[in-house]
Amino acid sequence: MPKVHRKFSILRKLELEAGYFLLDLSPVEGVLPEDIQPGQFVEISVPDHSKLLRRPISIHFADYKSNILRLLIRVVGEGTKAVCSMSEGDSLDIILPLGKGFSTEFKSGDRVILVGGGVGVAPLLYQAALLKDLGVDVRMVYGARNSHELVVAEAFKDYAELEITTDDGSCGTPGRVTDSLCFATMLESASMVQCCGPAPMMKAVAAVCRDKGTPCEVSLENMMACGLGACLCCVEKTVKGNVCVCTEGPVFNIDQLTW
Ligand SMILES: Cc1cc2nc3c(=O)[nH]c(=O)nc-3n(C[C@H](O)[C@H](O)[C@H](O)COP(=O)(O)OP(=O)(O)OC[C@H]3O[C@@H](n4cnc5c(N)ncnc54)[C@H](O)[C@@H]3O)c2cc1C
Ligand code: FES
Repeated sequence: MPKVHRKFSILRKLELEAGYFLLDLSPVEGVLPEDIQPGQFVEISVPDHSKLLRRPISIHFADYKSNILRLLIRVVGEGTKAVCSMSEGDSLDIILPLGKGFSTEFKSGDRVILVGGGVGVAPLLYQAALLKDLGVDVRMVYGARNSHELVVAEAFKDYAELEITTDDGSCGTPGRVTDSLCFATMLESASMVQCCGPAPMMKAVAAVCRDKGTPCEVSLENMMACGLGACLCCVEKTVKGNVCVCTEGPVFNIDQLTW
């Protein structure tokens, strides 16, 4: 699918808790690129910071009916702060869609367990919606440090049976995503686990899936600069040698990784 370089206008900006923002964007001209895959990402040019490189952000949702692209951003540094400081009506310079997304070749009645931690839930909402359309039994395990960081939990209820885990036990099952009921009871009957979050979380999920023989995909969030396979700063070691996560990923089957 060809990537495009477009200006998007901020239609709506919503500040959530814990430094998270939801941005609804619409192309200034034309329509969203066709066939955006869940798990793909955009590269945003940081406004007023010409020295900063573009920043990679997952596609949280692509709403073709309304011509809206939704991003979920957690402010962690200068780039994300600058993007989230913009106002409704301002425009952003974006390249999309980038990378390879999650598998979607499932049939009605299959069970897929989505696992997201922190801002890693971002690419999983669009995947949940697409899987539900296919008739898949979608389970979502949403892990966070505490109840304040469960910023988009409600949105998942439209598409998946939701389970929550929090490190401090303030909501849902206390502990890690691997302590959830899904992992205890459903892993062996699942067609696949698809996961995005902090690397230690994804490694723990991958280890349990390997143990139970459940196929598993993870979306890596290696540091990126160009997002186009040119700078080599996002390289990951795989069973086939070093690859650029921005072009060969960010989604990988764990069998491809050396974890
Ligand atoms: C494929 C991909 C998809 C992403 N999707 C999202 C998303 O949907 N929403 C979102 O909020 N963020 C997402 N990120 C992370 C986001 O790109 C970084 O948080 C952002 O680039 C940080 O830029 P900054 O200038 O604000 O912070 P910087 O000043 O560059 O960094 C601030 C702090 O964040 C850390 N950091 C920077 N980049 C990353 C990273 N990739 N992973 C972990 N820590 C990082 C730095 O080590 C530093 O401690 C994604 C990253 C990748 C690679
Ligand atoms: S970010 Fe430049 S090669 Fe991947």
